[in-house]
Amino acid sequence: MNKNFDYSLVDNVLEEYEYKQSAIIAILQSLQEHYHYLPKEIFPRIAEKLGVSEARIYSVATFYENFSLEPKGKYIIKVCDGTACHVRKSIPILEKLREELELSDNKVTTDDLMFTVETVSCLGACGLAPALTVNDKVHPAMTPEKASELIKELKEAE
Ligand code: FES
Repeated sequence: MNKNFDYSLVDNVLEEYEYKQSAIIAILQSLQEHYHYLPKEIFPRIAEKLGVSEARIYSVATFYENFSLEPKGKYIIKVCDGTACHVRKSIPILEKLREELELSDNKVTTDDLMFTVETVSCLGACGLAPALTVNDKVHPAMTPEKASELIKELKEAE
């Protein structure tokens, strides 16, 4: 156990789900909502309290795409690069976001854990291309300028 890690949230969530092994996914979802990812410290704690192996919990966490074991930003921006968005110039939008946030293909989250920039292959909103989402809210008909404005607004809102 990591002495510097505050386990109270994990313990509260486990209690809320009555330490049920069948609630592993819901427990992980709830913790990810709070941390924006699944910190490695939580795994031994959950394993101990639910009476299951750590490996089992890791296998659930890695099976579902929505779970992340890497730290993510408070704002997760997904730039669509599916065909409809790509032909309407999604790449300059992605480049603009990366430039403003000093991110790249290899570094997707800012050091202050405010922003994560990722690409997706279709957001299911092709009629609104080029589109991106911020924490699952769709922003239609984007341009590099609009993306830059969006970052500014999000920063100001903090
Ligand atoms: S290709 Fe971008 S929303 Fe479908």
